[in-house]
Amino acid sequence: MGVISEEMIKELIGCAKEARLKAYAPYSKYKVGAAALGSDGKIYTGCNIENASFGLTNCAERTAIFKMVSEGCLSFKALAVVGGGEGPGDSGPCGACRQVISEFCEDINTTPIIDAGQNGEYVMEPAIALYPRPFMKFEPNDD
Ligand code: THU
Repeated sequence: MGVISEEMIKELIGCAKEARLKAYAPYSKYKVGAAALGSDGKIYTGCNIENASFGLTNCAERTAIFKMVSEGCLSFKALAVVGGGEGPGDSGPCGACRQVISEFCEDINTTPIIDAGQNGEYVMEPAIALYPRPFMKFEPNDD
């Protein structure tokens, strides 16, 4: 797994917790926050943003990553996610977010994804463990 200090893990979890307070989740009433440590050293945060047309919902993880990319940073060294549960484990990224994570994490084999509970306890896994065989770059078909 990528080298990340305990201090930085705590910092990212704190930022994700704070971002969670901004969640717009009137339909599910399930708030999520995320924080990505950009390879530029900046922390990019995000929350889930729901819509009356439910399928348009954007998860906290993708909000944070898209904010990072839109600011010109194309990869992250670590990502923390905080859901509503007391302990970790109930807000592991959804499938769509796992695909997006695989595109923008610094190294799929080592970049840590941290899933934290409200109590600060967390589980940490490399991105590859969450999504072993991502859809990556492709060649255009000529038919
Ligand atoms: N959600 C996230 O933001 N991240 C996750 O990892 C899981 C689910 C959001 C989407 C929706 O707004 C709500 O949680 C319930 O699914």
